[in-house]
Amino acid sequence: MPVTDDPAVRIVGVPPSRWLEVLRVEAASFEHPWDPGTVRDVLHSRFCLALGAETPEGRLVAHLLYAVQGGLCHLLDLAVLPEWRRRGIGARLVREAQDRMRAEGVEFVFLEVRASNESGQAFYRGLGFEPVGRRPGYYPDTGEDAVVMIRDLVAGGAADRRPATDDRSHGE
Ligand SMILES: CC(C)(COP(=O)(O)OP(=O)(O)OC[C@H]1O[C@@H](n2cnc3c(N)ncnc32)[C@H](O)[C@@H]1OP(=O)(O)O)[C@@H](O)C(=O)NCCC(=O)NCCS
Repeated sequence: MPVTDDPAVRIVGVPPSRWLEVLRVEAASFEHPWDPGTVRDVLHSRFCLALGAETPEGRLVAHLLYAVQGGLCHLLDLAVLPEWRRRGIGARLVREAQDRMRAEGVEFVFLEVRASNESGQAFYRGLGFEPVGRRPGYYPDTGEDAVVMIRDLVAGGAADRRPATDDRSHGE
């Protein structure tokens, strides 16, 4: 998948102290965003890892929250501010997380995405995720089904190839 990197942002670790910034991106990204308590609790959880995309001025414009247990990773939440989309930021966040997971021996990554979120599913398909099933009524706010998507990190493939210009700095 062709991805245009935006050198104006860098991928950073997001500490729990930045939960309000995560909340702002969340609120601007979803019709049914996570509530403040959930954002704060997940960021403080010892199972949760958080990456973000930051402008040179230090503004957080995207985040990816995920949890790793055993050989399995659960992508919990991914959001990019609307005005920063289609610049490769979402793909960079997922690839950075996958690199870190591989280093920890993670074999599979999975996620749930709303059945109605076709653009989200298209995004994940482009990164090598495959739909493997549905969870009926998974979202309590609307009762909507979730589509479960999974990716085999060991098998890898074309979706892992990135442009040579990719910013690999972690800046934690
Ligand atoms: C889904 C989302 C995270 C994608 O972030 P992004 O930074 O815009 O994605 P990228 O620029 O890295 O896109 C990479 C590729 O994914 C695909 N893609 C991204 N957005 C897409 C869309 N709206 N429709 C179809 N394909 C899309 C494209 O193939 C794109 O490559 P291209 O721009 O060269 O065509 C972002 O649109 C978003 O925050 N949406 C709202 C929240 C959400 O749905 N989160 C995911 C489900 S939890």
